[in-house]
Amino acid sequence: MRIDVLTIFPAVFSGFLSESIIKRAINNELVTVNLIDFREFTDSKHKKVDDYPYGGGAGMVLNVQPVVDALKSIEGYEKALKIMMTPQGKTFNHEMAYELSEEKHIIILCGHYEGFDERIRHYFDLEVSIGDYVLTGGELGALVLIDSITRLIPDVINKDESHINDSFNNHLLEHPHYTRPRVYDGLEVPEVLVNGHHKLIEEWRLEESIKRTKDRRPDLYKKYIKGAK
Ligand code: 6GU
Repeated sequence: MRIDVLTIFPAVFSGFLSESIIKRAINNELVTVNLIDFREFTDSKHKKVDDYPYGGGAGMVLNVQPVVDALKSIEGYEKALKIMMTPQGKTFNHEMAYELSEEKHIIILCGHYEGFDERIRHYFDLEVSIGDYVLTGGELGALVLIDSITRLIPDVINKDESHINDSFNNHLLEHPHYTRPRVYDGLEVPEVLVNGHHKLIEEWRLEESIKRTKDRRPDLYKKYIKGAK
């Protein structure tokens, strides 16, 4: 998959993309992330990418020209899925991550300031939000997309680290996990995980998943019950 990010803060991405699973996916050429600073495309003398809103009011508005010129500089942009990060978008979830992980080429625009010039929307296919709170810009949202999509691309995570059991795949939160030591500060690992047989362990895990979901996420639990019927 190829991901192009339109941002005026490319440095925000560098650290994240050079660590752990995402770094490995990039090194293995399973995903390519290209950062484009759209400030470099502005026609303005002072390299501005924003201006006062027509009609007055607080805050600045992102100009259409630098964004669209930067977008059009991307090879194959016509065919790519073009996404705008905005709190007005569709709320991101696991299902969207799966759908996006099947795309060949996505372009993600990170906005700033009070908002986008409305005409920018004309050039994009989809608007995505990462939740009901306001961020100073779209960069963290874009990173959330990149991270959650990349881990779903085939071969990014090996079979032992499988995401088939991910929370949300089956509308259940994951069961509790334990690793060594057996006892820490008097806190013990459940007996069944140490001495139980495979079948007993599976039963215990499913039961714990259901209990945890019912307790913490009654909304998900409802979906699980519906699906199980
Ligand atoms: Cl994608 N951008 C901004 N600025 N705020 C947000 C968001 C995105 N998603 C939730 N809040």
